[in-house]
Amino acid sequence: MPQPGLALHALYKSYPAPHRGKKPVLRGVTLTFGPGLYGLLGPNGTGKSTMIRIITGGEAPDSGQVLWGGRPISALGIRYRRVLGYMPQQQTLYESYTGRRFLAYMAALKEIPRRAVAAEVARVAAEVGLQAGLDTRLGACSGGMRQRLLLAAALLGAPQLLVLDEPTAGLDPRERVRLRGLLARLAAERVILVATHVVSDVETVAAQVVLLRAGTVVDAAPVPALIEKYAPGGGLEDVYLAVFGEGDGR
Ligand SMILES: Nc1ncnc2c1ncn2[C@@H]1O[C@H](COP(=O)(O)OP(=O)(O)OP(=O)(O)O)[C@@H](O)[C@H]1O
Ligand SMILES: [Mg+2]
Repeated sequence: MPQPGLALHALYKSYPAPHRGKKPVLRGVTLTFGPGLYGLLGPNGTGKSTMIRIITGGEAPDSGQVLWGGRPISALGIRYRRVLGYMPQQQTLYESYTGRRFLAYMAALKEIPRRAVAAEVARVAAEVGLQAGLDTRLGACSGGMRQRLLLAAALLGAPQLLVLDEPTAGLDPRERVRLRGLLARLAAERVILVATHVVSDVETVAAQVVLLRAGTVVDAAPVPALIEKYAPGGGLEDVYLAVFGEGDGR
């Protein structure tokens, strides 16, 4: 078995645009990710979520390939679903479900054996600090609780590839710090990809940060190397401002 790793090869994607034919969103993204945590940074509308939907198999690229362990994810099918944990940027939840029922439902979708579900739900709930809120109906959950439930769902089955789209949106500082610690711990033995606008979420824990501008990778390197190159003496936020400036990057 080759080293678990994700490779994106020359991904292109455009969407139909009214009056303009097509709007290119990804313009030749090539990247490789071994075990560790990767931050994906870029302004609004730069293609982060599109890239993530393609990585997670929800959408197909116009051209290019996503490989896991050297094999195209389209060929891996269900085997890819088993290694993947995905937290989307937005998701509609069944408002009448409790958190526990939602997680059990997601566990079933992931084909976790029925006898293992209760323990697995308790495990992921504990990881995100949600033991207490599990029997609240989703309709009555705060934004931060819903966010933590989505994260817990992504952790079900201890996936080797964890893809999180804006995981800290709506989390209070305490939960944000907890998440950072959790991700740092999990990254030791899996690939974790985190798209975020919160630079501090990835600054101290990322093996590498990918800077995406208008569907093109500007750079992908460890944080110290990016600081050295774009903002000597500064931090990752200064790198962001130096690279993306005041404009919106589109
Ligand atoms: N299904 C779609 N149909 C048409 N256009 C789309 C679709 N999905 C995304 N887009 C467009 O593609 C571009 C990239 O969107 P995407 O959501 O990937 O950006 P993002 O970097 O995740 O932004 P944000 O930081 O706001 O989450 C945007 O201009 C968006 O309007
Ligand atoms: Mg997005």
